[in-house]
Amino acid sequence: MVRRTRVSGRSILPQVGAEPAVGGLFDTRYSTLASNTIDYWMLPDDPAMTEQRVWASIENAPVLEDASLQIYVHVPFCAQRCRFCAFSGGNTLDFKQAERYSRLVVLQIREMIERSQIKGHPIRSVNVGGGSPDLVGAHIGYILEAMRGLPGCTDDTEFSVEFTLSTTSREFIEELVRYNVTKASFGVQSLDRAVRGYMRQPRGLQHLEQVLGWIGGRIPAVNADLITGLPGQDLRTVQSDLQRLMDDPRINCISSYLLTPGAAPSLLAGLAGHDLPPLPSYPEQAMMRLHTYSTFLRNGWVRRGTNTYVNPQRLDPEIVQRIAGNECIGTSNYEAFLIAAGPQAVSYLPGARVENSVNIDGWLTAMEAGEHPFHLPKCNDVPQKDTALWVFPLRCESLPQQRFDRMIASEAITADQLATLAAFEREGLVIHNNKGYELSILGEVFMGHLVHDLKQAAGQRAVDDYIVEGHALGRAISAGAVADSNEANNRQIALTLLNEESSKDA
Ligand SMILES: C[S@@+](CC[C@H](N)C(=O)[O-])C[C@H]1O[C@@H](n2cnc3c(N)ncnc32)[C@H](O)[C@@H]1O
Ligand code: SF4
Repeated sequence: MVRRTRVSGRSILPQVGAEPAVGGLFDTRYSTLASNTIDYWMLPDDPAMTEQRVWASIENAPVLEDASLQIYVHVPFCAQRCRFCAFSGGNTLDFKQAERYSRLVVLQIREMIERSQIKGHPIRSVNVGGGSPDLVGAHIGYILEAMRGLPGCTDDTEFSVEFTLSTTSREFIEELVRYNVTKASFGVQSLDRAVRGYMRQPRGLQHLEQVLGWIGGRIPAVNADLITGLPGQDLRTVQSDLQRLMDDPRINCISSYLLTPGAAPSLLAGLAGHDLPPLPSYPEQAMMRLHTYSTFLRNGWVRRGTNTYVNPQRLDPEIVQRIAGNECIGTSNYEAFLIAAGPQAVSYLPGARVENSVNIDGWLTAMEAGEHPFHLPKCNDVPQKDTALWVFPLRCESLPQQRFDRMIASEAITADQLATLAAFEREGLVIHNNKGYELSILGEVFMGHLVHDLKQAAGQRAVDDYIVEGHALGRAISAGAVADSNEANNRQIALTLLNEESSKDA
């Protein structure tokens, strides 16, 4: 039994657990960086899941106090096959389907909203991501117009669209301007020619110059994605990449991600087969993260959502407030609704996780037949009322005291979780102040670990299994048992291929 005391504005955590474990990186308990930075919301597979249960979980998701609504549209077309890409497994080059696809993805969003009780509540953000949404070409206008027409879409709704520099056209950018997109976002990852080559990205950056020229200051927020921890990177290149982008007056938003190797078996295969240089060591990776956060801090850039930083000198404060910055990744608390459509897209509603099938032809055919092609084993209807506790390391809002108190009052958090949070506070990874709990800068370096360790056991197991599975796939690709294609980076497909291979062997 854990005894708690309530002192207004002060930590109420139980003083249990061992003294701070030290000796790891920066004298924390951790000697590695987290190998997962994306798939935190997973739970163990449910082989007994049915379509009926999925719909019931969508329809019954309650609209609770603090409910919010975000929309995500996934576009599965892409002409590149970046080795690190956690999303490339669901990609196709068949963008001739763009018109058909655009119509059906809108249909799926409309139907999911229609059947959920959140219908009509204000929509905080609409994010079109991928893949390469630019490959839908002018159909982006149809998608954006349909999203503007959704019940709950207001003048305050953020509209953000991702695209790939090498395939974007001037016409596509003109459509984003015409439909008043508030944020345009593209991946750079690294400016270093060698690193880009290893990652199978175009080595030159002429596309960056061209696209920034086309935008010409007409889209308020312009975001570039960077990754740290890629093979071949060192602290020097990470520093100069960040500085070059921060110095560019046309860029006012930068998202810096820590590589999730476990989500990219194709990259793991390259490492296992020695056709890539090794990943930077963990101390080097930790320095890259620390350097990145401290550079943003020193230069007055402010955090939004998960890994996005904004230069408030170059952006209207009203637009800064609109930037949700969590894209398709997941929701920030149990009460929130993230309704997502398209192959591979995942929706999160209170008590519902709904993953779409990644088979694009199957998805299109099923949607046309009036069915919703969910990938049932990965869907679940388990309430995770403690979501705000383990998600807060990812969020710029941190964990407001009131929300924490409510989770305690409803017994959503276990004694083990409270003890873990107390230990983080004693170790200086988490800070408690009169607003609630927030990460220290060290906490930011290890945020993936913190999210994992604050979860309950079943959720931790799902994340761990996913990483182990990623490494097994990497070894299978390297041994030639599974082809090194985009598909290898998607579990729905890659595991089937792996199982087929092992049954041939047996
Ligand atoms: C899926 S991409 C879509 C954007 C667009 N296709 C592009 O690459 O320009 C969104 C971002 O996710 C990040 N990302 C993808 N895979 C990742 C991984 N395994 N680990 C960390 N970040 C990753 C990259 O920074 C990428 O730019
Ligand atoms: S990161 Fe590369 S492979 Fe992934 S969606 Fe973007 S361009 Fe395509």
